[in-house]
Amino acid sequence: MSEFFPIKRFDHLEFYVGNAKQAAHFYANRFGFTNTAYRGLETGYRKTASYVMEQGDICLVLSTGLSPDHPISQSVLAHGDNIAVIALEVPNATNAYREATGRGAVGAIPPTEERDDRGVFRYAAIHAYGDILIKFVERSDYAGVFAPGFQPRQQLPIQNNGLGLKSIDHVVGNVELGAMDRWVQFFADTMGFSLSIHFDDKMIATESSALMSKVMQDSAGQIKLPINEPAKGKGKSQIQEYLEYNNGPGIQHVAWTTDNIIETVSSLKASGVQFLHVPLNYYDKLEERVGKIDEPIEKLAELGILVDRDRDGYLLQIFTQPVEDRPTLFFEIIQRQGSQGFGEGNFKALFEAIEREQVRRGNL
Ligand code: FE2
Repeated sequence: MSEFFPIKRFDHLEFYVGNAKQAAHFYANRFGFTNTAYRGLETGYRKTASYVMEQGDICLVLSTGLSPDHPISQSVLAHGDNIAVIALEVPNATNAYREATGRGAVGAIPPTEERDDRGVFRYAAIHAYGDILIKFVERSDYAGVFAPGFQPRQQLPIQNNGLGLKSIDHVVGNVELGAMDRWVQFFADTMGFSLSIHFDDKMIATESSALMSKVMQDSAGQIKLPINEPAKGKGKSQIQEYLEYNNGPGIQHVAWTTDNIIETVSSLKASGVQFLHVPLNYYDKLEERVGKIDEPIEKLAELGILVDRDRDGYLLQIFTQPVEDRPTLFFEIIQRQGSQGFGEGNFKALFEAIEREQVRRGNL
C-alpha cells in the first residue's frame, strides 16, 4: 500500500566471483543458463569482466575484478563468491534513489547515466545489509543488450527455456543476531515494503539449533526479501555458520520458480546439481499431511522434493547444497500451486537435513 516509488520487477542479481569465465560455465552447464552478453577486455572494458546469464525471466550477471584492488576482488577476498547486488527495474532510477535516500537509505551509487548508440541506461544504488547493494535500474530508454559496453553473445533460445527455471521468487538475506528487526525497518522505511510473514524461533527450531525470519515485500508482493537471523539453540545455528564463513551478513539463498519441478529437478540432477538429502520417511505420511496433490509421491520421494500446503493451495520445493566451498550460498527450486507461503511445514525436515550437512563439515 505505502510504496514510495514503483518497482517493475527483479532486473538481475550480480554475483562477484573470482573467475567469471569459469562461473559462467557452471551456471550454463549445471543450471541451464545461456550467456547472452559480455563485457571485458575484448570489448574495451579494462576493470572487470562480466557475463550476463539468462534463463526464463531470470538474469544473473557474473563479474570478476581484473586487479587485486578492485572492489569486486576485495569482496571475493572477504566473502568468497557471493551475490553482491540485488537489481530492481524501476521506471525512474533517479526518483527511486531520491525517495530511498530521502528516507534514510545510505547512497552507494548516485544517479548515473550511460549512453551508446542504443540509447540511455540509468541506474543508482543504495546500501543494504552487509555489503549488499540494492540497485535501481532504468532501461526503458535503452534498446541495446543488457547495458552500454556489453556485447551480445548467444541469443536466448525462444523455444528452449533452459532447464525450466522461470523467475526469481524470493531472495533471502542472513544478518547478525539482533539485526533482523533493524533491516526489516530499513525496507519498510526506505522502500515502503511491508512485513508479510514472521517466523519466530519456536517455529524454526530443531533439537540443536534455531533461526528467526521475517519476510519483507513490496506492495504488489512481487519482490519478496526474507531476512533471517540466528537464534539460540544447543548447537550452532546454520545462520551463524553462514555468517562466519561469509564473514558477515549476505545473501543466503535465491528461490527460482519452475512450472514443472519434477522435470526441472530431474534435469538439474542429470547435469550434476547436488541437493539436500531428505530422509525417505518424510514421504510416509505425506498425503495425510498435505492432502491430494497432482504429482506422484514416489517421483517426489525419488527426487527429494518437499511439499507443503496452506489455505491457498500447495507448493513443491527443493534446496541445493551450497554452491561454494564456503557453506554460504545455495538455491531453492519452487513450484507454487496456489500457496504463497515458504514451506513452513517443511522447516523441521529441512533444517535437520541442513544440520546433517553441518555435522559433515564439522560445524555443529
Ligand atoms: Fe526460500
